[in-house]
Amino acid sequence: MKLEIPLLKPYFDTDELSELERVLDSGWVTQGPKVNEFEDKITKYLGIKYSIAVTNCTSALHLALLSIDVKKGDEVLVADYTFPATGHAVLYCRAKPIFVDVDSKTYNLNPEVIGEKINDKTKAIIPVHTFGQPAEMDAIMEIAEDHNLRVIEDAACALGAKYKNKYAGTIGDIGCFSFHARKGITTGEGGMVVTNNKNLAEKIRNLSVFGMSSAWDREKDDRFIIPKFTELGYNYKMSDITAAVGVAQLRKLDKILERKRTIAKYWDEKLQEMEFIEAPYVSENAKHIYQSYVVLVDKRINRNELIMMLVEKGVQTQIGTYASHIQHVYNSTQKCPNSLDIFNRSLAIPMYYMLEEKDIDVAATHLKKAVEELKWA
Ligand SMILES: Cc1ncc(COP(=O)(O)O)c(C=O)c1O
Repeated sequence: MKLEIPLLKPYFDTDELSELERVLDSGWVTQGPKVNEFEDKITKYLGIKYSIAVTNCTSALHLALLSIDVKKGDEVLVADYTFPATGHAVLYCRAKPIFVDVDSKTYNLNPEVIGEKINDKTKAIIPVHTFGQPAEMDAIMEIAEDHNLRVIEDAACALGAKYKNKYAGTIGDIGCFSFHARKGITTGEGGMVVTNNKNLAEKIRNLSVFGMSSAWDREKDDRFIIPKFTELGYNYKMSDITAAVGVAQLRKLDKILERKRTIAKYWDEKLQEMEFIEAPYVSENAKHIYQSYVVLVDKRINRNELIMMLVEKGVQTQIGTYASHIQHVYNSTQKCPNSLDIFNRSLAIPMYYMLEEKDIDVAATHLKKAVEELKWA
């Protein structure tokens, strides 16, 4: 069936094509000058010191954890309500993710329950800026300082979001971003690690290129150099083809975010008059960028049935994201009741730059009707 109103649509124009053309014509398509340019632009945008472009946010998180020496026997506190890439990255280091429950309103890591999970093995905290709303970073940083823990921000969904006046991803030791198709700007797949710490930046760069110096760095050097492999790194580097799309997308970022905030307001108004659907809550400390617009469906409504009914009407919706602790791969004994409740009741509804108010009117009418039917079911 044709989806008249999809959940999302990336926004591209001729700018991406001309950037790509230049890279293809240049003959240098692996990591090189375009990646440098993309990194410089992200560095400037965020007002941070170092950016390292990688294949996706999962590899960004993996490298971030390796750079702070997370290893077997360590524990890392992870916001439970997240795409499981966050917990997976901890497992890649053979460490143990300890899932921490989230706040029922913001869906973000609840600082009040972090303390009880800290012990001698705890190495770091990973708050997630869920759906583009920054977590309560002041409280999280204070706990981290008190216990000498590192903070890695999973800012996969939050490029351009702000906590108070600071960009999400720039507050902890390291920030990790995603350019996956569902994110604010996209390169199809892609990621970025950012930090103000020179040592961590160097380590992450090295680990992203097999644990050796990068081909472009060697190309710039006049001397003949045979690289040395200093540690077990990965092939996590971003290509110049990917970065070409990234550079063009980054020029659109603020325009996209502004439009999405306007759309969010329109949805907020529409939902005010709707029974059984709760619009997203926004903390006064947050500039939410609405990577996704995720509502909560009342317990009396079958959310999965609702998703299927809406698809039949040409409106695509989706669950918000996942409760990590119930995923079998983790074999976790943690209890995160808020996260589980949000996992069961969340509904992501259409949100993207090109979405028009008239589309929202149609989608909202179908949503209201479907909820009416389901409340009697
Ligand atoms: C919170 C969160 N962290 C990490 C990731 C992984 O990002 P990527 O797909 O770029 O590896 C995602 C992707 O959806 C995400 O939502």
